[in-house]
Amino acid sequence: MKPHRIIIDADPGVDDAAAILMALGSPEVDLLGLSIVAGNVPLEATVANACKIVALTGRGDVPVHAGAAGPLVRDQVYGKYAHIGAFNDSLVPAGDVVPSAENAVQFLVRSTRAAAAANDPITICAIGPLTNIALALIQHPDVARGIRRIVSMGGAFTALGHRTPWAEFNLLADPHAADIVYHSGVPIVMMPLDVTLQALFTEQHFVAFRRGGAAGQALCNLFTTFDRSDIARFGRPGGPIHDAMTIAWLIRPGLFKGCDTYVGVEVAGVTMGYTYADFHDKLGRAANATVITEVDETGFIGLLLDRIARHGDTENAEIAGGVKA
Ligand code: RIB
Ligand code: CA
Repeated sequence: MKPHRIIIDADPGVDDAAAILMALGSPEVDLLGLSIVAGNVPLEATVANACKIVALTGRGDVPVHAGAAGPLVRDQVYGKYAHIGAFNDSLVPAGDVVPSAENAVQFLVRSTRAAAAANDPITICAIGPLTNIALALIQHPDVARGIRRIVSMGGAFTALGHRTPWAEFNLLADPHAADIVYHSGVPIVMMPLDVTLQALFTEQHFVAFRRGGAAGQALCNLFTTFDRSDIARFGRPGGPIHDAMTIAWLIRPGLFKGCDTYVGVEVAGVTMGYTYADFHDKLGRAANATVITEVDETGFIGLLLDRIARHGDTENAEIAGGVKA
């Protein structure tokens, strides 16, 4: 089967790092580049973190493009873990990857236009605020023809929000961008908190990341340093790795269940960023998204561990002087 040609739009972010490494460890995925946005931390730090993650894998051929430093309309908000900032060298070693001179929005426009011309549209895995993607679609609506679908980590329907009682962070950070993307006509696959919180990773999983060579060790460092577990909220030990689910869905969609429905987002007031889904078709509006509602937790965790471990296989093969088939 032909690899999925994808662009990851991200705000690294610890779980973004896991998603990027999962994509780079998966032969089913051809990662064309990263478009980076402010979100978890300010843009300068998300770009630096993205460069470090790519450098860990020796994939300097994967370009990192800096994009929007803030949301379209609302005031800037950063993630709950904004204190992480740029990944410390002691956790993720400095690398040799520097960002491209091409802005992320221009990269998205150029890549999707070329994909449309080749009649081979691209999948965008959107795992941060949707600002870059909204800007590309506003400025050049034709680019929609070059986007096969957007697989987006964001929103909360039956789950409560976690940055406000109503809103998941990526939606809270730029609800206007999400509103534009959801009504662009581009097929959307949504991974809301409803499903990302069904898979919780524990210390034993983080230690298992170490099978992934330098990349896996760095991921283990990040997840063991910044404890994201919340027994009071999740009801059991462990914490989510939200963003990696977008990659897992592309590789193994059979691990997931979902349904097509109309979704919308609040763009003003105290519930800004609140997402709603018309699961019982009360509004009579055409479905604009596939909302993923269930995941096979064991299957997802095993898939992520396997793809991170492949970085170790590659590293060992290179050390042995072989060329991994
Ligand atoms: O709410 C979780 C999402 O917000 C994840 O993508 C995380 O990286 C942050 O961007
Ligand atoms: Ca993210």
